[in-house]
Amino acid sequence: MANKKPGFFSHQTLEKNIGWMIIASILVVSFAGLVQIVPLFFQHSTTQPVAGVEPYSPLRLMGRDVYIREGCVGCHSQQVRVLAAEVQRYGSYSTAAESVFDHPFLWGSKRTGPDLARVGERYSDDWHRIHLRDPRKVVPESNMPAYPWLEKTVITGQNVAERMRALRALGVPYTDADIAAAPKAIEGKTEEDALVAYLQELGVGVRKAQAKQAEDARKAEAAKKAAAPTAQSAVQPAAQAATGG
Ligand code: HEC
Repeated sequence: MANKKPGFFSHQTLEKNIGWMIIASILVVSFAGLVQIVPLFFQHSTTQPVAGVEPYSPLRLMGRDVYIREGCVGCHSQQVRVLAAEVQRYGSYSTAAESVFDHPFLWGSKRTGPDLARVGERYSDDWHRIHLRDPRKVVPESNMPAYPWLEKTVITGQNVAERMRALRALGVPYTDADIAAAPKAIEGKTEEDALVAYLQELGVGVRKAQAKQAEDARKAEAAKKAAAPTAQSAVQPAAQAATGG
């Protein structure tokens, strides 16, 4: 038995022949990769925007492009991780569906500065302006660079409509009317105006939508309890608190 010559389709062919081993490894890894990646293109949780996420307004879009050009992503992530410490510091953790209109996404991986995914409305517009012109004026120990030229660069006449058309080709649902109105919306604005507008709404839509959902759920629960005050519903709040719901 031990001397029987193994056939071509045996494990020995792979183990003794590095060429076949490499080919088989590539096939296995590619297949495993596709199994993980392909479903993401079809899942609602990664392709549909979550409540509160809308396409960028023209001004915010220009601000986002300033953010990309100035390399803010090199020091700031926009991705709250699923860790208690992160959620306590920044707010609810980020989900893939928040970034469906981001081309490219700006999740980042470097945090010389804090995460910015939930920074919207945390400070006033004036705070941001002073901070961008000279971070040390509001945060003395800051090592963030100053961006004093942003307030001096007017963006009137920049190709915002073309940018929106390019994004529409990638699936962002801008209408013709949105695009036609865009040049007017950025008229007379500076890069600083645009960047502040961009920052001030980061995470705000999602936060408000989540608060509304929680409020609606609370109301529905109260209505249900008022309609049928049973022993069952009296225990429910405690059970819910235990599961964090
Ligand atoms: C060299 C790294 C670096 C770069 C580049 C950088 N930052 Fe910062 N940023 C920091 C650091 C460090 C802090 C924390 C200290 C402070 O508030 O200034 C910070 C803080 C901030 C804050 C306040 C966040 C909070 O929650 O308190 C905002 C907003 C911000 N940066 C925006 C930007 C923008 C917009 C750009 C690009 C124009 C940028 N940063 C570029 C390092 C950087």
